Amino acid sequence: MAAPFPALRLRRTRSAPWSRSLHAETVLTPADLIWPLFICEGKGVEEPVASLPGVSRWSVDNIVARGREARDLGIPCIALFPNTPHDRRTDDGAEALNPDNLMCRAIRALKDAVPEVGVLTDVALDPYTAHGHDGLLDAAGYVLNDATSDVLVGQALNQARAGADIIAPSDMMDGRVGAIRAALEDEGFVNAQIMAYSAKYASAFYGPFRDAVGSRGLLKGDKKTYQMDYANAEEALREVAADLAEGADSVMVKPGLPYLDIIRRVKERFEVPVFAYQVSGEYAMIEASAAAGAGDRDALVVETLMAFKRAGCSGVLTYHAAHAARLLA
Ligand code: PBG
Repeated sequence: MAAPFPALRLRRTRSAPWSRSLHAETVLTPADLIWPLFICEGKGVEEPVASLPGVSRWSVDNIVARGREARDLGIPCIALFPNTPHDRRTDDGAEALNPDNLMCRAIRALKDAVPEVGVLTDVALDPYTAHGHDGLLDAAGYVLNDATSDVLVGQALNQARAGADIIAPSDMMDGRVGAIRAALEDEGFVNAQIMAYSAKYASAFYGPFRDAVGSRGLLKGDKKTYQMDYANAEEALREVAADLAEGADSVMVKPGLPYLDIIRRVKERFEVPVFAYQVSGEYAMIEASAAAGAGDRDALVVETLMAFKRAGCSGVLTYHAAHAARLLA
């Protein structure tokens, strides 16, 4: 068959801004963003996180201001992560079950002041344990699955009672989504959503996050016996299938940018809402790249976020959320 050129000139539709807009296959708006925020004790506190330039931990009063900022920017949801004071971290992570812990106080303050913004809460014990793991350890240091799941159910209920809208288990224990779903139903939280961190990989991109929640120095070993091996993709599909069968409303792939193939496969296979977490190390990489003059920060931010939408995401958790929302306004 003869080549279609010149009848086919793919550059035609690219020739002017109005035409590029008209032909754009994907849109990115502030409504696609979830803003992860770190919380700390105190009043009037903003503590910059050294390995995440431009990101801070905020005390509860200041987190309310961030909630208002999210609302004003059109960001529909924020995700909370506590930096638990070190004297409250124990081997069993019991502070996760305290109805007055930092997380619950922040949820209540936000739902009080800005109820129209969704609050997503992470379920995992790492900000509460003295050893920095997401669950309970046996004598050999192995993270116990079923015993951990029991505690995670308590943690999820604690968050739901404080007013959390989306419960997001990030711990990678087997069966925890079903256990949390059953407990939520039992307590009448029929509209509490579960966004499962279904395909969460054991990744080198989480370093700055562990600084931000104060677990980096505490963590013994790695998380490879529970988080996924990044060599695997089929296994991610099995994780997603399990979490959906157990009652997840939406699923997440994490990290984000190096895992766009997983996002696409999950979306095509299951046709459910898929979210990506553009994690701390990805944020730091973009910031370092811009600081080194290797790329334009704003352009890198928008291009990477659009890539998640193109891959099939309903939305993205990103530390650039507020900045991106301003760029998109
Ligand atoms: C906790 C949790 C982690 C992240 C989100 N929830 C860290 C980890 O699994 O070690 C990482 C997020 C980021 O790097 O931005 N289980």
